[in-house]
Amino acid sequence: MPHALITGANRGLGLEHTRQLLERGWTISAACRDPQGAEELKALDPDDGRLRLFAYDASDLTAAATLAKSVSEPIDLLFANAGMMSPQTRGFGSAASESMIDELRVNTVAPLALVEAFVDQVEASEMKVIALQSSRMGSIADNDSGGGYGYRSSKAALNAIGKSLSIDLAPRGVSVLILHPGWVKTRMGGQNGLLTVEESVSAQLDLIARAYQTDAMSGRFFHVSGEDLPW
Ligand SMILES: NC(=O)c1ccc[n+]([C@@H]2O[C@H](COP(=O)([O-])OP(=O)(O)OC[C@H]3O[C@@H](n4cnc5c(N)ncnc54)[C@H](OP(=O)(O)O)[C@@H]3O)[C@@H](O)[C@H]2O)c1
Repeated sequence: MPHALITGANRGLGLEHTRQLLERGWTISAACRDPQGAEELKALDPDDGRLRLFAYDASDLTAAATLAKSVSEPIDLLFANAGMMSPQTRGFGSAASESMIDELRVNTVAPLALVEAFVDQVEASEMKVIALQSSRMGSIADNDSGGGYGYRSSKAALNAIGKSLSIDLAPRGVSVLILHPGWVKTRMGGQNGLLTVEESVSAQLDLIARAYQTDAMSGRFFHVSGEDLPW
């Protein structure tokens, strides 16, 4: 059965990815900051060894390499999902701050560190898919409302990383998907979100299944609806 490593697996989209993939029979390495306190995640445990919890704090750039010492099997789907949005970096005036560095560290540099730590295991798997949980807010062409200095720039830079990874890892047979999950009802998305986590995740998993069938999706920036988003 396939194996996925998912970051930010304790709530929101990461938790739902874990739930739906467990339901489909996958084995999940679920990484989160506080595995002890991850009650909703632990409640998903089918008690057959397919759910393993690991401590992972994306703000520590050595965390991915440390995690790689504990997870040694092939990884069919590496999902860099953990992310943050800092209210301090939203408006013009005091956005240039340590909070913006925190956002860049967690949303941009950590996913690259994760891929660097686990690429051999992805390459050794059957599916060989890397998914980056980006955001439409990272689209420069789509920015018609301004603001969001920290979050927008962190996701735009993540997109640039995803594109380079798709080129650098193509000879190794690895596909890199850059995904916008839609506006989803989570702690980050808020209750006005247009999609439930169930809807967003099942559509994301459909895109991921398609990426396994074709190389043509690697290095593209997808809305969860399947449409290409402009950079
Ligand atoms: N919801 C939306 O509408 C939307 C739209 C576009 C993109 N996204 C992206 O989707 C991803 C998941 O967000 P969500 O909507 O599910 O929001 P969420 O419910 O707020 O979940 C965020 C997840 O990221 C984790 N995280 C934050 N900082 C971390 C760190 N330093 N180390 C490890 N984990 C950390 C959180 O863990 P803790 O519980 O430990 O904080 C949590 O598991 C993010 O990358 C976000 O940018 C969401």
